[in-house]
Amino acid sequence: MEYNTNSLEENWMPFTGNRDFKKSPRLVVRGEGIHYYDHKGGKILDGSSGLFCCPLGHGRKEIAEAVYSQLLENDYTPPFQMGHPGAFDLAQRVARITPEPMNHIFFANSGSEAIDTALKIAMAYHRAKGQGQRTRFVSRERAYHGVNIGGTSLSGMVKNRETFSGVMPGVVHMRHTWDGSETFVQGQPEKGAELADDLARICANVGGSTIAACFVEPIAGSTGCLVPPKGYLERLREICDEHGILLVFDEVITGFGRTGAPFAAQAFGVTPDLMTLAKAITNGCQPMGAIAVKDEIYETIIDVAPENAIELFHGYTYSSHPAACAAGVAVQKIYDEENTFEKAAGLVDHFQKALFSLEGMDCLADIRGYGMLGAIELKPKGGPGALGTQFQKDLFWRGLHVKFTGDCGVVAPAFVATEADIDAMIGVLREALEEL
Ligand SMILES: Cc1ncc(COP(=O)(O)O)c(C=O)c1O
Repeated sequence: MEYNTNSLEENWMPFTGNRDFKKSPRLVVRGEGIHYYDHKGGKILDGSSGLFCCPLGHGRKEIAEAVYSQLLENDYTPPFQMGHPGAFDLAQRVARITPEPMNHIFFANSGSEAIDTALKIAMAYHRAKGQGQRTRFVSRERAYHGVNIGGTSLSGMVKNRETFSGVMPGVVHMRHTWDGSETFVQGQPEKGAELADDLARICANVGGSTIAACFVEPIAGSTGCLVPPKGYLERLREICDEHGILLVFDEVITGFGRTGAPFAAQAFGVTPDLMTLAKAITNGCQPMGAIAVKDEIYETIIDVAPENAIELFHGYTYSSHPAACAAGVAVQKIYDEENTFEKAAGLVDHFQKALFSLEGMDCLADIRGYGMLGAIELKPKGGPGALGTQFQKDLFWRGLHVKFTGDCGVVAPAFVATEADIDAMIGVLREALEEL
């Protein structure tokens, strides 16, 4: 095969219609602040913070310089039986803002790896407590927990599952919390807390003592910002406690300020046992995932192992990679110094009002929103997802990036956006929607 600088063929793109994309590519060649720039010179407002991972915007010099210096100083240290200062620094900075008593952080390289790690920590914890019979997991319809085998098994999205039949056994799904009876609700729906009782039904059916953990995104992000009904997460917490089941919040999207609080756990006042994190931990500048773990879970797994033995047989070559940790530390410093989460909280009202100003447009089936996260759901045309896919492309050429899953566009501006920037994003969206 000859090398040809302009060939698009060899790169098999993820979650992309490769044939379609390669006929009309959308290449981003630069990012700065809340804008992307495409290969034709177009300027694109980033309405989804990339994939919800860049709340500080693009091209932050402090982060780039931290990574550059780190690579010159210490580019790679094996994370097994060795360490480097950045990993301990970042773990402490993250543990400082997670809810008490979640003071231990395990590093991975993505949200998907964080999910698989959380599954294994849950199993290791129960085994350490002499409850190795807890092998089942509970998840939810419309859940997205990444794409590794563990996350695919937990997933509640048909397209992400139907091709992959041999996924992990023993996963049972609760219903999701959106039933279409309440639409255009800003914030938490009043009705639906009782849907948490699906977990109690599953316990009654398979035995609560066989279940290791229940995984939920506090706000289901990828499938279109499904905000938990009032009392729902509280009820899940109660049922988990009743049956000794670990509650895992997948905060890969909601973590680091997206809800206006550091984590959704704090925004909703419900503390899980484990939290999976990724994306904004490094502002998307380096691949990284992490699992925040309650003290008691960490101590149980650690204490049961013989002195000097490895306690958890799990880890990745790139767990706590020095460059990712350097990016993470730089990002956490900016979050502190610029009061990023408070700034996000200060933008919430304006963002939500702007988003909900689209209510009443004929082409919209629903709008949902919480914090700096929101979704518009298009009335489908030509089969589920057909319109959403086309509309996302159309928006790009109009100068707005919004991530679509099926017919839901998920809007998540960076926290460095101004109110005027948010208005500009919604303005482009409105114009495009008017033509549907
Ligand atoms: C809630 C949630 N969990 C897990 C993941 C997977 O993360 P990654 O794509 O980094 O593997 C995502 C990605 O969007 C996510 O939204």
